[in-house]
Amino acid sequence: MKFFLDSAHLPDIREAAQLGILDGVTTNPSLLSKEEADPVAVLREISKVVDGPISAEVVSTEHAGMVEQGVEWRRIAENIVVKIPMSTEGLKAIRTLREQEIPTNCTLVFSPTQALMAAKAGAAMVSPFVGRLDDIQVRGMEVVDEIVQVFSNYEISTEVLVASIRSPVHVADAARIGADISTMPWSVMQALARHPLTDIGIERFFADWQKIQNR
Ligand code: E4P
Repeated sequence: MKFFLDSAHLPDIREAAQLGILDGVTTNPSLLSKEEADPVAVLREISKVVDGPISAEVVSTEHAGMVEQGVEWRRIAENIVVKIPMSTEGLKAIRTLREQEIPTNCTLVFSPTQALMAAKAGAAMVSPFVGRLDDIQVRGMEVVDEIVQVFSNYEISTEVLVASIRSPVHVADAARIGADISTMPWSVMQALARHPLTDIGIERFFADWQKIQNR
């Protein structure tokens, strides 16, 4: 499974890139709004730091506007993937951008049929939002499981990108289900590397090594 960082914060992205496990980045208008720099400059810098797909979301709700902004985002760098919110206008935009060989990530997906439609329209990735489903007492991971099953039934190559991840358990579940990508905040990525028994083990080995030094 690929690991993406769900962030527009360059210091975190730079640190995550050093881990050697970072496969891409997802941004959205809310994440970009937290940064002081101009979104175009931020996206340009991210695309230099990370050698993988960088999702940049359109804010128009109409086909023409989505395509226009998508083409603009893609001009920033070759690894920009245009994020299109799920809707009938969005499906049209996914199709048009695909005809122009611009890859898309269909975002705000909450059901297997939405995912199937996005895949049929030609999206390179679909993003089911697990955390936001959990928030309304719908099991987000069950939706991911269904999407993975449907895509496997029809040998669909669109990647399932699990989004709105809130904890390491979400990442573990996404990997068990066989989702292609998990995108997560920096705090979750850091938490994935930790285990209390690892910390205790390091402490003990260190203390025992000190005993040898003190002989
Ligand atoms: C993914 O591409 C989205 O940017 C993100 O995962 C949304 O997460 P949130 O529900 O925590 O805002």
